[in-house]
Amino acid sequence: MKKRILFVCLGNICRSPAAEGIMQKFIDEKGLTDSFELGSAGLYGGHAGELPDHRMRVHAAKRGYELIHRSRPFKTIDFDNYDIIVAMDDSNYHRLTSLAPTLEDQKKVVRMIDYVKGFPQYHSVPDPYYEGAEGFEIVLDLLEDGCRNMLEHLSEESQM
Ligand code: 4NP
Repeated sequence: MKKRILFVCLGNICRSPAAEGIMQKFIDEKGLTDSFELGSAGLYGGHAGELPDHRMRVHAAKRGYELIHRSRPFKTIDFDNYDIIVAMDDSNYHRLTSLAPTLEDQKKVVRMIDYVKGFPQYHSVPDPYYEGAEGFEIVLDLLEDGCRNMLEHLSEESQM
């Protein structure tokens, strides 16, 4: 059965579509395309229908990730449609756990930063929207580290 992972941030135009694009590339490179289904969504729906932020697309493209997701709001039904829901920061995490209809759904919510090993000074994946180029680069650094470790963990768990 496919493992379904949903990445969630605030606007779904910077961090979560980048996480989705990075994880999809890692999955494809490992030949695990058929074992996963990925998505991303935002807790604020104001950017619905938009491509990822231009700055994020430019920074991601330099690392070989093409981000083509269209922003969409998170919906409670996503708890039924996904096995793991990955929050980018504490605000996302608390909002998601408060929206969970059941305790089992609440347990699906994890923090991206808990999978990041190489950046102990970070306690969340920070919102880059009002930041400069460096803000986007650090988000990509954190997401690459976190996605690599999450995929390794899931692969070991299911012995793919
Ligand atoms: P994201 O970044 O949550 O990483 O997609 C943001 C994008 C837009 C806004 C906030 C954060 N906004 O307030 O419009």
